[in-house]
Amino acid sequence: MTTSTTSFAFERIAKSRINEIDFNNLEFGKYISDHMLMADFLDGKWQEPTILPFGDIPMSPAMLSLHYGQSVFEGMKAFKNKDGDICIFRPQKHSERLNKSLARMCMPEIPEELFIQSLHALVEIDQAWIPTSEGASLYLRPVVFAYEPRLGVKIADHMKFFILTSPAGAYFSKPTRLKVEETFVRAAEGGTGFAKCAGNYGGAFYPTTLARQQGFDQVLWTDAKEHKYIDEAGVMNVMFVIDGKLITPKLTTALLDGVTRDSILTLAPGLGMTVEQRKVSVAEIEEAFKKGSITEAFGTGTAAVVSPIATINIHGTDYNLPAADPGSFQHRVKEKLNNMRLGFEPDVHGWNYIISTQ
Ligand code: COI
Repeated sequence: MTTSTTSFAFERIAKSRINEIDFNNLEFGKYISDHMLMADFLDGKWQEPTILPFGDIPMSPAMLSLHYGQSVFEGMKAFKNKDGDICIFRPQKHSERLNKSLARMCMPEIPEELFIQSLHALVEIDQAWIPTSEGASLYLRPVVFAYEPRLGVKIADHMKFFILTSPAGAYFSKPTRLKVEETFVRAAEGGTGFAKCAGNYGGAFYPTTLARQQGFDQVLWTDAKEHKYIDEAGVMNVMFVIDGKLITPKLTTALLDGVTRDSILTLAPGLGMTVEQRKVSVAEIEEAFKKGSITEAFGTGTAAVVSPIATINIHGTDYNLPAADPGSFQHRVKEKLNNMRLGFEPDVHGWNYIISTQ
């Protein structure tokens, strides 16, 4: 689908920083593109966005998001496809999830049209920043946060919405080592686990730091009540291939409804895979390792894409997985997803938002 660019107010950067970027070494999140989009929620409505050079913004130390955590974000990607056009992947699905997160945090929803027009305008302006090397993309980071200065515990009346973009390579450079977490909790049912709010990530730092000190990359979160069932890995959802079936924890209010998760579950049957979305217990995974019936485990996420898991530590024992070969499900589904986004395979699900560059 292609729509015309909206003419938001636009202040062009005096001198592009693009020549300072090492496009052969795109560490995730290190570089921010020339421009950013900003919009205010004031007087009960979203105002017209403006696009301006990326830079600092004025803020009050009393800004409510700093004190009470009203801050929500998304993570999305844009690519240059095989014809040289721009493809933003599944913006409608991201808009839907952003609005669910905003509603949970008592923040004003952003109309889908405004959201997509904003992405379109910004990505079109900074299209030179879209990397074309294999596995790289322009990572898009929309954020909404409470801007009003006030110390009283209240829902802010003044919010800001902004989008940054960042040329990014792979999130993980090698297969990950995960530790099943049985002490700390990421999210409880009824909490904010399904929302992409800043506090979910801040709260994960301490347990993740402890796991890193023990040689792991991430923790594998378990349910808050019993530490019995697997939830997700914090920056990615998780999937397992057991007895030849694709198994993943079913969504609850404690898990993020990953867009890549949803894409993979949609593509799996076409690749001959039976899918089970259900409760997955730690005991079942341990048993599968002992029996040798688990052949693959991987994380899925916008940043992580499809990231192989090398090791899962369960109750102090490391269980290792073989390196994923080209015939593995994770390889095949990642390739399919990339091919669809880059235009080498038809976009039968209507996931690609195409901006023509011709
Ligand atoms: C994403 O996959 O986009 C995320 O938001 C995860 C992490 C980089 C925060």
